[in-house]
Amino acid sequence: MSESAELRPVVAEGDAAADMAARVVENLGAAVHASPETLRLPLLCLLAEGHVLVEDVPGVGKTVLAKALARSLDLTFHRVQFTPDLLPADVTGVNVFDRQSGAFRFRPGPVFANIVLVDEINRASPKTQSALLEAMQEGQVTVDGATHMLVRPFLVVATQNPVEYEGTYPLPEAQLDRFAVRMTIGYPALGEEARMLAEQTTEPPLDHLEPVAQHEEVVAAIAAARSVHVEESLNRFVVALLRHTRASERLALGGSPRSGIALLRLAKARALVERRDFVVPEDVISLATPVLAHRLILAPEARATGVTVEEVVTEALEATPAPV
Ligand SMILES: Nc1ncnc2c1ncn2[C@@H]1O[C@H](COP(=O)(O)OP(=O)(O)O)[C@@H](O)[C@H]1O
Ligand SMILES: [Mg+2]
Repeated sequence: MSESAELRPVVAEGDAAADMAARVVENLGAAVHASPETLRLPLLCLLAEGHVLVEDVPGVGKTVLAKALARSLDLTFHRVQFTPDLLPADVTGVNVFDRQSGAFRFRPGPVFANIVLVDEINRASPKTQSALLEAMQEGQVTVDGATHMLVRPFLVVATQNPVEYEGTYPLPEAQLDRFAVRMTIGYPALGEEARMLAEQTTEPPLDHLEPVAQHEEVVAAIAAARSVHVEESLNRFVVALLRHTRASERLALGGSPRSGIALLRLAKARALVERRDFVVPEDVISLATPVLAHRLILAPEARATGVTVEEVVTEALEATPAPV
């Protein structure tokens, strides 16, 4: 550690986290063709101790992104495909009888990993969905009365297909609210997609992706994100945004207090990777849509006119003066 790092530990920690984030985003870019902004979002979520819902069509790199993130950070990774017959215990784990010891032993389910990819979350029954969401919320699972702590850091990357609704159980608002961020990946630009085809048919970059951060660095970055400073005026700015959505005639449901917490946490994580130890309005503004849009519900009349929730978030941002 250099002398200046010893003198200014908070700043040094922030710098280390920002360096790590830059390395991670670059590494992700080697395996996933998407904008740096897109690639950074799940990392911000991880640093903000939130979870991410990726809503996109099949085959756009959702799985590759989740795997690449786990590999870049040297974290454990599990994938679980949600299907209608999946039971809560298939997610959380079960007690199995161990003949050797003559006692029951807990066999952890796939939720016990640092990064858990839940594919097609809306295909499992509400009971299984809520078992997962409870685990996400509490950081633990309870099986037969015994509580088991999940591993940390813990990031759920859940996917759902925006075009296929047949035979699905759409997540209720209360469950959607538990995802810090909803994002899409989208199709790559023409040249990028062509390059991706070449790579995938010769040597897929994911196979060779090396870790660029260690577990402890991630844990330290999460702690550093928590200690990023937020001016009172920014808390008020976030609340004003939420209130604007709650008062909007175009919405049947506005932003919850939980969404405000998520927005500030993400803003703090963004400040950290932008090498600041304080949040600026731009942190909040640039994250407002991914954090808020999926929690808002359009009023029927607004829906009929073709307005989108994203437009309502933009409107709220335009109508709410940012602190100077
Ligand atoms: N943007 C992208 N960047 C890198 N690879 C991609 C991208 N989109 C699709 N692919 C490739 O297409 C295949 C399917 O991607 P995958 O991540 O499994 O899709 P999804 O999980 O979204 O259905 C993989 O071989 C993956 O490498
Ligand atoms: Mg997939």
